[in-house]
Order: sequence, then structure tokens, then C-alpha cells
Amino acid sequence: MIKIKNLHKSFSNSHILKGVDLEVFNSEILVILGRSGSGKSVLLKHIMGLEKPDLGSIEINGVDITKLDQIQIYQEIKNMGMLFQGSALFDSMDIESNVSFYLMHNDDPTLNRKLNRDEIKKRVNEALSMVGLDGINKKNPSSLSGGMKKRVGLARLIAYRPKILLYDEPTTGLDPITAKQINDLIIKTQNELNGTSIIVTHDIYSAFSIADRIALHRDGKIIYIDTPTNFIKINDPDINFIKELLNTFPRGRK
Ligand SMILES: Nc1ncnc2c1ncn2[C@@H]1O[C@H](COP(=O)(O)OP(=O)(O)OP(=O)(O)O)[C@@H](O)[C@H]1O
Ligand SMILES: [Mg+2]
Repeated sequence: MIKIKNLHKSFSNSHILKGVDLEVFNSEILVILGRSGSGKSVLLKHIMGLEKPDLGSIEINGVDITKLDQIQIYQEIKNMGMLFQGSALFDSMDIESNVSFYLMHNDDPTLNRKLNRDEIKKRVNEALSMVGLDGINKKNPSSLSGGMKKRVGLARLIAYRPKILLYDEPTTGLDPITAKQINDLIIKTQNELNGTSIIVTHDIYSAFSIADRIALHRDGKIIYIDTPTNFIKINDPDINFIKELLNTFPRGRK
């Protein structure tokens, strides 16, 4: 369970997070929607322990990670993995080294031990196969398209098999068929790991096809959170707009 209370963060003079309250249940897929620049990526980075808030708390399974020093945070977030918005691959490493990165440096979060080289290789190949990129192990990130890089980022997350999975825009900019494959993978991974997933997206079709609950981030806060069926009934200008889009172009709804 992740419990975020009254989270505030400013950069220079911009107050970005203005009192985020959010509870994420174990084993759910929570989708966060919100306008560009509203602070969704900043929120995910706080959950991952990569940013420190100015005020507020983030409890992960009972431990407030905002009170920990860097070494303690590192221990706490070993069960977490993130797909970054810009993929965040290491350009100097080939794809295999990128995908195996967490497993080379950490224990496997499920088995609680380091995997050996053969096990890691197997994991990497399975993950690349799952994202439809078999055989690109020795390529460099710079030779891949944006969509392929995103899928490698996803493979890195899947290969690690963490309990808490954070996805920042996993399908944005991908063609609809690949987006559907990625959504299926997110659900499959979630079911296999019995994990907890938080997905930030602008892709409302994906949101409504994978979410257990949907949250709206606006003005630095989570202003609504509910099941897709109830969320879409909320009378709010942004949600009415989403409803109109879904009704006019009903691609991909459950
Ligand atoms: N490290 C940082 N230093 C200064 N400003 C930052 C930093 N990180 C984020 N910001 C600012 O915080 C605001 C929110 O950024 P964020 O990336 O969280 O938006 P977002 O909701 O994810 O937008 P998008 O949907 O476009 O990805 C932006 O104005 C951004 O410039
Ligand atoms: Mg973002």
C-alpha cells in the first residue's frame, strides 16, 4: 500500500505539487491523468525516492520514505521499478546491458538473491521477446526508433520483476497496435507479479482499458479518484471532454 499525504514540492518559484493526497492499493492498476506540466512525472519521481518533497509524507508498506537518507531509500525502493517518460536508456551500453542493468546491480526482488549470468541472460531475452524486440541485444540505443526505445525501457522493467511498477507515458507516441500490445503486457505483468502499478498517461483509451481506478491530477493535487465506471460519470469540464472523446471515437474501450 502506498499512502501519500499532503505532498508539496516547489522548483524555484513554481509550486508544482500543492498537497497531493493519494492512496494506492496493493495489486491495483491506478492510472493518473492530467494536463501536461501539471506535475505527474514529478509525483512519480517522489514515489521512486528520486525527489524529496518540501512537505508531506509517502508511506510505502508502512515506511515513510521522505524521512530516510539516500542509502535507506535505496534499500526501500529495491522493490520498485520505473519506466521513465523519456525511456532513460544508457546510450553507452548496448540493449542487453540496459535491460539487465537492475538485475546486475540488485537482488531479484522476488527471489531475494542475485541472479547468475545465465539466469539474467534468460530474463533479458524473455523480456525483449515480450516487447517484440527479439535479437536486438547487441544494438545501441542510438540506433533505435523512439517507440523501440520505449519498449526496451519496458523490457528493463519487466526483466527486473518488481512489486511496484511505475510507468510514465508507456504508450504515448506509439502506433495503436503496439500500444495495445504494451497495455496487454502491463496487465499480464501485473497479474504475474501480483504487483501494484501506477501509470501516468495521456492515452485515454489505454487508461480506460487497463485501469482498476483512475485519478485526475490538476492544479498540483489529485482531485478525483474512482473506478473507470464512476470516474466517467463525474461532472467536470475535463472529464466531460474525455467522455465526449470516448463516445465520438470509441476505439479500445472495454
Ligand atoms: N528538476 C526540476 N527542476 C525544475 N523544474 C522542474 C523539475 N522537474 C519538473 N519541473 C517542472 O515541474 C513542472 C511539472 O513537470 P512534470 O514533468 O511533472 O509535468 P507532467 O505533468 O509530467 O507533464 P507531461 O504530461 O508533459 O509529461 C514543469 O513545469 C517542469 O518544468
Ligand atoms: Mg510527464
